[in-house]
Amino acid sequence: MRHLMSPLDLSVEELYGLLSLANDIEHNPGKYAHACEGKKLATCFYEPSTRTRLSFESAMLNLGGSVLGFSSADSSSAAKGESVSDTIRVISCYADICAIRHPKEGAALVASLKSSIPVINAGDGGHQHPTQTLTDLLTIYSLKGGFSNLTIGLCGDLKFGRTVHSLIHALIRYPNVRFVLISPEELRIPDYIREDVLQKNEIPFTELERLEDAMPELDILYMTRVQKERFFNEEDYVRMKDFYILTKDKLSMAREDMLILHPLPRVNEISVEVDDDPRAVYFKQAQYGVYVRMALILTLLKWRDGLC
Ligand code: NCD
Repeated sequence: MRHLMSPLDLSVEELYGLLSLANDIEHNPGKYAHACEGKKLATCFYEPSTRTRLSFESAMLNLGGSVLGFSSADSSSAAKGESVSDTIRVISCYADICAIRHPKEGAALVASLKSSIPVINAGDGGHQHPTQTLTDLLTIYSLKGGFSNLTIGLCGDLKFGRTVHSLIHALIRYPNVRFVLISPEELRIPDYIREDVLQKNEIPFTELERLEDAMPELDILYMTRVQKERFFNEEDYVRMKDFYILTKDKLSMAREDMLILHPLPRVNEISVEVDDDPRAVYFKQAQYGVYVRMALILTLLKWRDGLC
């Protein structure tokens, strides 16, 4: 049985298999409409979510399966003091597969160690968010045709933004990928990613503060919101929150074929006037999230028992 804690849990070949399956699901949804009949997905969300939880649920329903779960810690036995380990042992009796989101880094891993069903990390604190990365990869793969030779600008809260951490891990495996890390000084990428992931693997990257300086060279601009819930005080958040606002004016410096991605939710960092630009693909990206989660559920269940 396999779990998904990090994008690196999938080999490059497995990942291509998953993305191809997601492409097939997109174009032939009817073929998969009963693939998970009789199966149940549990969504255990101890932190707020719209896209991740609902796209998981939508994915399982599209596969003919059913869903159960909770959407906040308050409405689960966590409010009574139950540990994640105990909760997952119980959920294992009720469902065939589980997606878990938790504010603590490593919580999904702890759950996977006690689980008898596949566990998917749907976001653990400021650490990783592998299914958002699968969504991002499917978007890039579908719209750019691959991952090699890309210059990727990651902009905003690179310190706490778990989607950025997971995406970097995933993309360093492809040839000639370069990163431009655009953030205020206080929200720079954590040292463990700069040193242990980028420098150690000799991946070219630059760090800068002004989005305008990076714009002309980018193939992908990945915008992120400042992660309010991870700040220790409100004042710091207020000071940082509008550091970047992508406007039509700034976008005029970008290449015609640059793609703008954002995991969403957007707060202020992309002006709504940008939404109509053909380069803005963040809502399309949310749709890809359903296809890739369908592919993931199918694959993990297949690896578990070959029934799907
Ligand atoms: C992201 C997350 O939860 O980390 N959202 C999502 O799952 N699409 C990004 C964010 O909340 O900023």
